Amino acid sequence: MFFQKKKRLLAKPDFDNLPQHIGFIMDGNGRWAKRRGLPRSAGHRAGAKTFRDMVRYCKDIGIKNMTVYAFSTENWKRPKEEVEAIMDLLRSYLKDAFDHREEEVRCLILGDTAPLAPDIVALIKKLEDESRDCKQMTLNIALNYGGRAEITHAVRELAGQVQRGELAPGEITEDTISAHLYTAGQPDPDLIIRPSGEYRTSNFLLWQSAYSELVFMDVLWPDFTRRDLDRAILEYQNRDRRFGGV
Ligand code: IPE
Ligand code: IPE
Ligand code: MG
Repeated sequence: MFFQKKKRLLAKPDFDNLPQHIGFIMDGNGRWAKRRGLPRSAGHRAGAKTFRDMVRYCKDIGIKNMTVYAFSTENWKRPKEEVEAIMDLLRSYLKDAFDHREEEVRCLILGDTAPLAPDIVALIKKLEDESRDCKQMTLNIALNYGGRAEITHAVRELAGQVQRGELAPGEITEDTISAHLYTAGQPDPDLIIRPSGEYRTSNFLLWQSAYSELVFMDVLWPDFTRRDLDRAILEYQNRDRRFGGV
C-alpha cells in the first residue's frame, strides 16, 4: 500500500502526450502572505515568481498554449492599494516580458484593457505586437477578464454585424461565437488547474472550459512547484475524456 502510494507520488507524466492548452487560476496569494504575517502584496509578489517559473517550465516541456488568470473583472472590488500592487507587478512583468521574444513565447492579453492605466495599455500593445510571430508557446494573460464579460463582448460584436446586415442570425454558430472570444483561433483548455483549495472556477474561461478537465489542489499558488504541475498533468492523463460519447 505504502509502496504503491510512493510509486504514484514519484511517477512522471507522459511528456509525449501532454495537454495542448493548460489554464491556471493563480489563487491563494493573500492566504500565503497572511500565514506569514506579511501584507497581501507580498503574496502577490511571491505568486508572480511562481508564474514566471511556470511559464518557463510549460514552454520547456512543450505546452503549446498556457492561460493564466491574473486579475478578474470582480477583483476591482479589492482595496485600492492591493489593486495597485497587482498592477505594479504586472507593469514589471510586461517590461521584462520583452525577453520572451528570444524565448519564442507569443503573449496575448485576454480581457478589456480599456480601464487599465495608459502606460500598461501601451506596454501590452508593444508586447503583443513584438511577440506576434513567436512560435514555441502562446501565453494568454487573463487580465480584467471575466468569462461572462467575454461572452457579452462577443455577443455585442455579432449583434453589430447583424445590424449592419453583414451576418444573418441563422449564420451564428458555436464556431462564430468562439471566433469572437479573446481566445479566437486557439484550442480550448484541456486542463484547468486551481490551487488554493477552492472548488470553483470564478468566471474563468466559461465558454472554453465546457469539456476541460478540472484539477483542484490544496497548495497555495506561491508554493506551487514544477512537481505540482507534473502531478496535475499526471492526474489529467489518468482521466477518461469522453466528450459525451461512450
Ligand atoms: C489570487 O490570490 C490573485 C488574484 C486574485 C489577483 P488571492 O489574492 O485571491 O489570494 P487569496 O485567495 O486571498 O488567498
Ligand atoms: C480568481 O481568484 C481570480 C484570479 C485568480 C485572478 P479569486 O480569489 O478572485 O476568486 P474567488 O473570489 O475566491 O472566487
Ligand atoms: Mg483568491
